[in-house]
Amino acid sequence: MVHGVKVPFFDLKNQNSEIKSEAMGKFSEIFDAGAFILGEEVTIFEKNVAEYLGIKHAIGMSSGSDAILVTLMALGIGEPNEVICPSFTFFATASAVVRLGGIPVFVDVDLADFNISWEKIREKISAKTKAILVVHLFGQVAFMDEIVKIGREFNIPVIEDCAQSFGAKRHERQSGTLGNIGCFSFFPTKNLGGFGDSGLVCTDDDDIAEKIKILRVHGMKPRYFHRYVGGNFRIDELQAGLLNVKLPHVEAYIANRRKNAAIYLEALNGLNSIVLPKEIEGNFHTWNQFTIRILNGKRDEVCRALQANDIGYNIYYPLPLDAQECLKSFVDPQNLTSNAMLASKEVLSLPIYPELTSDQILHVIATLKQILH
Ligand SMILES: Cc1ncc(COP(=O)(O)O)c(C=O)c1O
Repeated sequence: MVHGVKVPFFDLKNQNSEIKSEAMGKFSEIFDAGAFILGEEVTIFEKNVAEYLGIKHAIGMSSGSDAILVTLMALGIGEPNEVICPSFTFFATASAVVRLGGIPVFVDVDLADFNISWEKIREKISAKTKAILVVHLFGQVAFMDEIVKIGREFNIPVIEDCAQSFGAKRHERQSGTLGNIGCFSFFPTKNLGGFGDSGLVCTDDDDIAEKIKILRVHGMKPRYFHRYVGGNFRIDELQAGLLNVKLPHVEAYIANRRKNAAIYLEALNGLNSIVLPKEIEGNFHTWNQFTIRILNGKRDEVCRALQANDIGYNIYYPLPLDAQECLKSFVDPQNLTSNAMLASKEVLSLPIYPELTSDQILHVIATLKQILH
């Protein structure tokens, strides 16, 4: 145990102080320019991200949740369409489908990577299926080659929820560019985090990109003439300005996450009652979360020990989507996804943010070793 060391689950103070003067300079420029809605910073950010990802169109959005919602709107999803999605993910993935009157069809996840079991997708496809919505959970890309093949076979688009996977790759290709449309979040805890809410949609499809840009401003084109019922889904100019400052640092942030993960993986290997996460072959994992499984019903005990030693942790996610109160009507209670249910009882995410110090990591490791030897 490293005495006197506190390890918050997530802490941006050091990351912020490194970019403080640049960010403040940027905010001051925006303040002076006085153009706060879809201004130059947004245009620059969209160009920079498109270049970074290697894709034609990047469209800044108000949040990751809205990025998914608008994507489904652009694809015309509503009643009685079905959208395939994993049952072990953040609520926003499936709620977008429901908000539009569609039906989420849940597919179980693999415990090896917590991502959708691609082998189980085919059996859930029906005549009503209008999209497959994949999530690259915890910063690691799902089996996209196989999933894209299924999408092509049934002629349905594949949407990537990349909220947790900015910068992640499969076979050298960026997440968000592997399916038809990618949706990102810049919530502060993400690999590229803003100072509030924002998100992005990316695609190579010119028509979809055009429709999403129009939906972002109340379906309006030209001004005050409304082609569609859209909404206000704009990214904020200040967020775009900050993200322009942070984007050049994102690879260093991810490198630090990878370094922290490597330390955990080596040090925790062989402990009892623990299953460590792994980087699937062909993947470049960004470790947005470092999520272990604690077996034999010991998770509560481990949580108590972490708490007693001033170590933050989180449980992503304590209840799968197919067991959520408000989604019950879409689900057969006799057929809940069993891996997702098991994962929800066993997962525990440890601090992994880029600026963790070696003392902090050693403190987490020593604490776990003491309980799980
Ligand atoms: C997998 C997943 N999808 C969607 C979202 C929604 O993103 P946001 O919080 O930016 O709306 C998040 C993040 O919170 C997420 O983790």
